[in-house]
Amino acid sequence: MNVPDIIIAVDGFSATGKSTFAKMVAKEFGFLYLDSGAMYRGVTLFSMENGMIAEDGTIDETALKTVIEDLDLHFRNDDGKTCLYLGERCIETEIRTLAVSSHVSPVSAVPFVRNYVDKRLRAFSEGGRVIMDGRDIGTTVFPNAELKVFMVADAEVRAQRRYDEMVEKGDTPVFEDIVKNLAERDYIDSHRETSPLRQPEDYVMDNTHMTLHEELVWCLGVIQGKFGILEAPALSW
Ligand code: DC
Repeated sequence: MNVPDIIIAVDGFSATGKSTFAKMVAKEFGFLYLDSGAMYRGVTLFSMENGMIAEDGTIDETALKTVIEDLDLHFRNDDGKTCLYLGERCIETEIRTLAVSSHVSPVSAVPFVRNYVDKRLRAFSEGGRVIMDGRDIGTTVFPNAELKVFMVADAEVRAQRRYDEMVEKGDTPVFEDIVKNLAERDYIDSHRETSPLRQPEDYVMDNTHMTLHEELVWCLGVIQGKFGILEAPALSW
């Protein structure tokens, strides 16, 4: 099936499966996948490693502001996987820890941080054929994205997915800590002043009881309807 060179924005609460869905769609249609949350996590990791976040979570915004425009955060394709780099260093593992997760929402609420990330995301997406996931992609980063998907899922299911993901990576997380972290991030992400998490007007997918194959079938149905594609797709998932 011939999907046009569009921009697909995928937004939603934490751990609703946005990146899994976006990566699958990217692979299926040959799109570039960009993880905007990774950029916020990268800024957070950098701030933590450089003493800009105090024990009580206070961010040294003055110090961060002086260096942010020189931060060389970018994506590279390593063996078919998109990885975030800080300069020459791959930070894909470090940015997924619970320590980074617990500081990332306040960091991402800082307006000049959002400005920096937005600029880079737009530059990476020149030419289109991109699927990007985050919290404000369809509302702020790409308000003209041709397709906007908003993902939701039950809180318990989301926490369990995040737990399983961390265990698979060899971590030993505490389930209740994950539930607490998700609730805190949901609150901060949807209540901050700059670009809060909001549902764009297009399509909502509740994937609480959906398999990945069903998610892909759903997405294809939406694309076919929206772009008037009659051809029956052959799915590889
Ligand atoms: O998708 P994620 O869990 O990796 O995102 C980490 C944090 O980054 C999330 O708690 C809020 C923030 N974020 C954001 O504010 N805007 C985005 N477009 C993406 C992520």
